[in-house]
Order: sequence, then C-alpha cells, then structure tokens
Amino acid sequence: MSFTFSVGAEHTMARSGVFDLPHCPLRTPVFMPVATQGAMKGVTSAQLEELDCEIILGNTYHLGLKPGEETLRAVGGVHELQSWKRNILTDSGGFQMVSLLKLATITEEGVVFQSTHGGGDLLLKPEDSIRIQNAIGGDIMMQLDDVVHVLTTGPRVEEAMYRSIRWLDRCLKANQRPKEQCIFGIIQGALDPKLRDICLAEMIARDCKGYAIGGLSGGEAKDDFWKIVALCAKTLPKNKPRYCMGVGYPVDIVVCIALGVDMFDCVYACRTARFGSALTSVGKLQLSKRNFANDSGALDPDCSCPTCKQFTRAYLHVVATKETIGATLLSVHNIAYLLNLTRKCRKAIEENRFPEMVQNFMLSYHPDKK
Ligand code: GUN
Ligand code: ZN
Repeated sequence: MSFTFSVGAEHTMARSGVFDLPHCPLRTPVFMPVATQGAMKGVTSAQLEELDCEIILGNTYHLGLKPGEETLRAVGGVHELQSWKRNILTDSGGFQMVSLLKLATITEEGVVFQSTHGGGDLLLKPEDSIRIQNAIGGDIMMQLDDVVHVLTTGPRVEEAMYRSIRWLDRCLKANQRPKEQCIFGIIQGALDPKLRDICLAEMIARDCKGYAIGGLSGGEAKDDFWKIVALCAKTLPKNKPRYCMGVGYPVDIVVCIALGVDMFDCVYACRTARFGSALTSVGKLQLSKRNFANDSGALDPDCSCPTCKQFTRAYLHVVATKETIGATLLSVHNIAYLLNLTRKCRKAIEENRFPEMVQNFMLSYHPDKK
C-alpha cells in the first residue's frame, strides 16, 4: 500500500522513517532538491540519480505555464518529460506567486494572478491546482494554501489559516488519482500558537497522508521559527511524515530534525552555488576568494561526490563564478552535501547517537576562525 509512513527509530524527538511512495521508498529525514521547471538549474536527472537522490521538487505554477497542462497530459507527466524515475513532490503554485513574485491577490475562490502580458487576470482555484498537479503526476501534491508573510499579525492571519483549511477540503475532493498521488495539508497560522493549534486539530482530523509546516522562514527570529516548528511537530501524528517548507540552511535542517521534522526543501544549495559558494563540513566556503587559488586540497575532505572526487579547490576557484561548469560542479556538491547531512542524521538516529552527531556537526560547521 502506498503512502504509509513507518517510523524506524526514534532518538530524542528525532526520528528516521520510510515513506512508501509509488516510484520508490523514501527514506527520512530527507532533503529534496528543487527542480522548479522540470529541471534543476545546472544539474541533470542522471547526476541527481548518481547522488542517490530519492525525491525532487517541482512547482505547479511554473510547470503549468511551461510545458503546460496539455503537454504534460500528452507526454504522461513530468517523470516522463524529464526522464526521472524516482519520486516527485509538487508545490501547489500560489505561494510562489504571492510571496516571491508579489503578482497575485487572494480571494475565497482562489489565487488571482495579474497577467503580465496584458489580457485578463488568471484565477488558480484549489481545484485547478490539483487538476494541474494531477497532470504533472507528482507522487506528493501540496494543497493550495493561503500564505501570509510570517510577521503578519491581526485578523488576516486567522482568515488565511481558516481559508487554508477550507481549501484543503476542496483539494482533497478534487484529486482524481488518490491511489497514485497523495495530498499534504499545510499548517498555517504565522507565529500565533493558538491559530497553529486550531489549524493542526482541523487538518489532523482530515487524515492527510502527510503534513507540512508552512509560512515560515520569511525573516522571523530563529527563536520564533523553532517554537512554531516544535509546537507543530509535537502535535502532528507520529505515523505521518512532516515537511518543513522552504528550510533551508544546514543548521536549520539539523535543528528541525532534532524537533521531529522529516522532510526539507530549499533553493539555497543551488542558488549559493551559482554565486560560487560551497557548503562543506567546515562551513560555507566562498571559492572565488584568493586564498583558494593555490589550494590543491579537495573541496570537502568529508565528501565523495563527483565534484569532490575530481576537482581541487584551486580549480573550483578558477571556474567558481565565471563558468557554467562552476555552477554545475558546485550545485552537484551542495546538493550532495545536504543529502549526506540528512543521511548522517538518519544513521545517527538509528544508531542512538544523534545528540553526539549534532554536537560534532556544530563544532565542525562553525570552526574557530581565530
Ligand atoms: N514554500 C515555503 N513555504 C510555503 C508555504 O507556506 N506554502 C506553500 N504552498 N509553499 C511554501
Ligand atoms: Zn562534494
């Protein structure tokens, strides 16, 4: 049976698990690289498979525009299109427009996009989002949610939270392929614990196959961020996967795993690679800096990804911010780094030594820069 989640080991609040998905079992905790438009920026499906990546993320808004719903149906979905045999999770589309591009407004019906090339406005209803996500064919679909900026206060937060519950119902009803594609509910409520609690109770009652913690990572204090993650993780059912959306940085991932979160996604790994930065076991390295010019050491001595096996820091210094190949090589490494980080957490949880692993990670990631 697909979409069952079994917890393997628990140590403190952290857990390891396996989520049974149609394309292959998903071992958690897991980092999911973002392939917005059916492709990673600068990284091929084959390269991701070589890193033993078990799931990637796509976006309904981008894929719905190009190649578009009709093409997706004609070719049999995005797995076929991009030649990816493992799992895909798709975000529902509204968040990217509202929060990132500021091109949309929200009504009870759905998300209204101001068309950028003249013409009328476009409306993305919960039913539309699921219809497009059904055409994309991802294993996990996210509900369309009403997301407010994390620092919003007042009645708008409550409105968005309740609307997200109503939209979850519409999404669940609209799913035409429940055996092949499941839907995650997204807990909203900004930084208000009471609203988060209401949202948790309502969404848990819908018995989704998994739950996401949404609306975070928008510039709130770390302390507030962690409090909400802890509150949600404590209440969410143990036998369902928990996904913290848009997280993130290596330290945030490790802290959230400690709080009981299972899944993560972030564009950070690839974005920072395009600016010439590598995430390594000794912290973030800016390869364009002169001190790497004569460094014939491995990029990250703790990493065995194709980039680290083949190239020195001195070479990466030369290509880091100038050449396409630099972005590709650093993206491959940064994705490998986050995949390995979540794998290390998984292994440590299973071997009952997660706290020591976290301690070693922190000491090594923040080296003494005297
Ligand atoms: N990506 C990051 N945060 C969110 C969120 O709250 N909702 C959705 N749909 N996507 C996100
Ligand atoms: Zn590497």
